[in-house]
Amino acid sequence: MMDEAVHCPKRQPTLRLAPMPGNENMFGDIFGGWVMSNVDIAGGIEAMRHARGRVATVAVNSFQFHQPISSGDVVSFYTEVVHMGRTSITVQVQVFAERRPQKPIVVKVTEAILTYVALDKEGQKRTLPPAIWPELNDADAPPEP
Ligand SMILES: CC(C)(COP(=O)(O)OP(=O)(O)OC[C@H]1O[C@@H](n2cnc3c(N)ncnc32)[C@H](O)[C@@H]1OP(=O)(O)O)[C@@H](O)C(=O)NCCC(=O)NCCS
Repeated sequence: MMDEAVHCPKRQPTLRLAPMPGNENMFGDIFGGWVMSNVDIAGGIEAMRHARGRVATVAVNSFQFHQPISSGDVVSFYTEVVHMGRTSITVQVQVFAERRPQKPIVVKVTEAILTYVALDKEGQKRTLPPAIWPELNDADAPPEP
């Protein structure tokens, strides 16, 4: 499949990583489990900020791999809350790879939607706190003084 060049969202990624050869599968691509693990971490960071505390992944609602990732790619995970329930937060994670530093191209490699549940100290679900900021993403933050 041809790489379709795209632009990353105009905000900071929640996570940016450079996979190593040790993250490859036996065919030389980056192992899907590495991507899934980091998607869950990135989504969990977003959910934890909004829950202002401990969360657990309750569901992976959808997960799509569009393009393979290779060693040498710089991989960025962008997160966005798509739903806040009573105890749960649903997060979309979009993953982009920057390839070929000598002639850079950005491609969307993965997108997923996961649901997290806010937990108390005992690991029981808890009601989400009221939102303090509509979003914590830089694009929505108030301008620097
Ligand atoms: C998370 C946990 C505490 C939820 O407890 P529960 O009593 O089953 O919770 P409920 O069925 O009442 O669901 C809680 C919320 O999650 C949502 N939810 C539950 N299952 C869901 C699913 N499959 N998809 C989407 N949302 C789901 C519910 O809609 C509810 O949201 P709301 O309160 O915002 O309306 C419990 O399931 C648990 O501990 N799971 C293991 C979590 C874990 O270890 N994750 C890491 C895996 S390695």
